[in-house]
Amino acid sequence: MHRLDGKVALVTGAGRSGGLGEAICLRLAAAGARIVVTDLGAGRAMMETGHIGTTGEMEAVAGRVRAAGSEAIAVPLDVCDEAQAEAAVQRAVDAFGRLDILVNNAGIGYLISPLVETPAERWRTVLEVNLTGVFLCTKVAAQQMIRQGQGGRVVNIASQAAKSGHRHMAAYTASKHGMVGLTRSAAMELGPHGITVNAVCPNHVTTGLGAVQNEYFAKLNNQTVPEYLATMRERIPMRRVGLPADTAGAVAFLCSDEAAYITGEAMNVSGGVEMH
Ligand SMILES: NC(=O)c1ccc[n+]([C@@H]2O[C@H](COP(=O)([O-])OP(=O)(O)OC[C@H]3O[C@@H](n4cnc5c(N)ncnc54)[C@H](O)[C@@H]3O)[C@@H](O)[C@H]2O)c1
Repeated sequence: MHRLDGKVALVTGAGRSGGLGEAICLRLAAAGARIVVTDLGAGRAMMETGHIGTTGEMEAVAGRVRAAGSEAIAVPLDVCDEAQAEAAVQRAVDAFGRLDILVNNAGIGYLISPLVETPAERWRTVLEVNLTGVFLCTKVAAQQMIRQGQGGRVVNIASQAAKSGHRHMAAYTASKHGMVGLTRSAAMELGPHGITVNAVCPNHVTTGLGAVQNEYFAKLNNQTVPEYLATMRERIPMRRVGLPADTAGAVAFLCSDEAAYITGEAMNVSGGVEMH
């Protein structure tokens, strides 16, 4: 087990039960980290679906971290709002004295439509959350880590869509490819401060977000959801879709001392379906 004793980790978009963010919080806490669980909370009426982490869900995730024996606070954070990002980092410092790890997990993957039918506003929304939000949170967290002078870790939850095209998901795919470019540039600038910046690229994980995609693409293929998932499994060398724990384990490794010399990488966690 990679140990993170004494470290403080802020995870964005972590307020959904069963989401990747929750699994990441629990995994980092199991390694000894104290956790700042953040998500939209009740603060923002959200786009076309109610698919957001509420204040109650955020508190519940923080409660599960505490029940597992670590310390946690829940803080509302819309990643598109730089002032909220600054306030969340300050809350981490006020509560735990420092910030060592940022996991940029918040993302929108449920706005799916053919490119020629996608309104520009949808495109902008996805890019704003999935890419600009990562830039803003990285910027303010890195400022704090640089002030502390003891290095740090930034891990960006990208996707298989950071490496390959996906139909009906142009904005999502572009945002995740962009995330890899941001990861590499940030790694170059923050390396001299002892801060590593890496991305993790999961394939399909059946969380809330994954479930929406399953329903959409099963319908598009004239399949039931179980048939769609069976076809998907056949294409994956490890013959199963991803589990939240697969991604969480990779994040814990990248946050550990063992990964101190790994930066600017976009690591596939895909059961072999993505290999470049
Ligand atoms: N589930 C998958 O198959 C899969 C695969 C590859 C990558 N990912 C990525 O993993 C991450 C988590 O995905 P998930 O499956 O757990 O999805 P999810 O929908 O369960 O979680 C995403 C979270 O992001 C939050 N969010 C949305 N907009 C936000 C904003 N402006 N500010 C703060 N939080 C915001 C939502 O409230 C939600 O809690 C996403 O970045 C996603 O793109 C997921």
